[in-house]
Amino acid sequence: MKVLVTGGLGFIGSHTVVELQQKGFEVIIIDDCSNSDEEVLNGIEAITGKKPLFEKLDLREKDKVVDFFKRHQDVIGVIHFAASKAVGESVEKPLLYYENNIGTLVYILKELCKKNKASFIFSSSCTVYGQADKMPITEDAPVKVAESPYGNTKQMGEEIIADTCKVTPGLNAIALRYFNPMGAHPSGEIGELPKGVPQNLVPFITQTGIGLRNELSVFGDDYPTPDGTCIRDYIYVVDLAKAHVVALERLLEGKNEKNYEVFNVGTGKGSSVLEAIQSFEKVSGRKLNYKIVDRRPGDITEAYADTTKANEVLGWKAEYSLEDAMKYAWIWEQKIRD
Ligand SMILES: NC(=O)c1ccc[n+]([C@@H]2O[C@H](COP(=O)([O-])OP(=O)(O)OC[C@H]3O[C@@H](n4cnc5c(N)ncnc54)[C@H](O)[C@@H]3O)[C@@H](O)[C@H]2O)c1
Repeated sequence: MKVLVTGGLGFIGSHTVVELQQKGFEVIIIDDCSNSDEEVLNGIEAITGKKPLFEKLDLREKDKVVDFFKRHQDVIGVIHFAASKAVGESVEKPLLYYENNIGTLVYILKELCKKNKASFIFSSSCTVYGQADKMPITEDAPVKVAESPYGNTKQMGEEIIADTCKVTPGLNAIALRYFNPMGAHPSGEIGELPKGVPQNLVPFITQTGIGLRNELSVFGDDYPTPDGTCIRDYIYVVDLAKAHVVALERLLEGKNEKNYEVFNVGTGKGSSVLEAIQSFEKVSGRKLNYKIVDRRPGDITEAYADTTKANEVLGWKAEYSLEDAMKYAWIWEQKIRD
């Protein structure tokens, strides 16, 4: 029951490690701490009572990846979170993104192909749909031309896994297309730790709320949506973490219908930027300083998931609301600034 979690010190990875350990899996984390901190191990231990095994290793170093799998032949499954994820940075440094998000994926898959049987879960994203033609978005909505090298790495990543599974019957894989992960663990022990200016809305909101940033810019209020601001599907990180455990169990128990499957992971409910702000104001009791500015190039109007497939086939459903998730994001923000 030993599972490798790459990027397991990161935001989504750390919450998934907690859920895996609580389900009795033995977890080994690989992380190079390029976007996280070893302290996260203490947070995980505080919640679960167990410190996961950890190897500080850069997955771009192929020899070290090969050596890792030689030393840990009992790894039965891999959840691969490790990647670079800043869309803007990916435009500036495309090769960094192709090397880190594609190179590392190939190295890991090569090792898994050497095994008789292996299970693999991949962090994909709703970014693969671009501006989908129909809402809510089902898994068979067309994959649109990627808007950034980051988005392209998710599309290519899915194709690489699909192609590899076609010729490797022992390899079983699931790509989870996350919508907009947010929040922090209810214990307040782990959460999102964005380095520099947050790329995502929720940490920007909470950092503005605590006074770390002066003002939140809302990019456009003239979109064709009820209040004019963009709509996203905010998924609570603990719900998302649980989806990984369910997906992994599906593969380990041989319940998958094909050896490569794709699932949306969202709530199925779209919320606007202004609704997210209102939710913050409600849970914090504070007014948020924000202003409406021009639209930002590349932003899509709306994206929210049809979660029927995840609900019915995977047997998973998001349980928490935007407000619950915002409450935990705010508790976390206050704790880390304390
Ligand atoms: N957070 C989101 O909004 C979102 C949405 C869709 C998909 N995803 C994907 O989910 C995954 C996890 O995202 P996250 O938000 O937890 O990001 P994160 O940056 O918090 O976690 C990624 C972790 O991977 C590590 N890492 C990066 N490159 C590495 C390497 N070469 N070797 C070893 N470790 C490495 C980082 O140090 C970090 O701890 C990523 O693949 C991301 O693209 C995230």
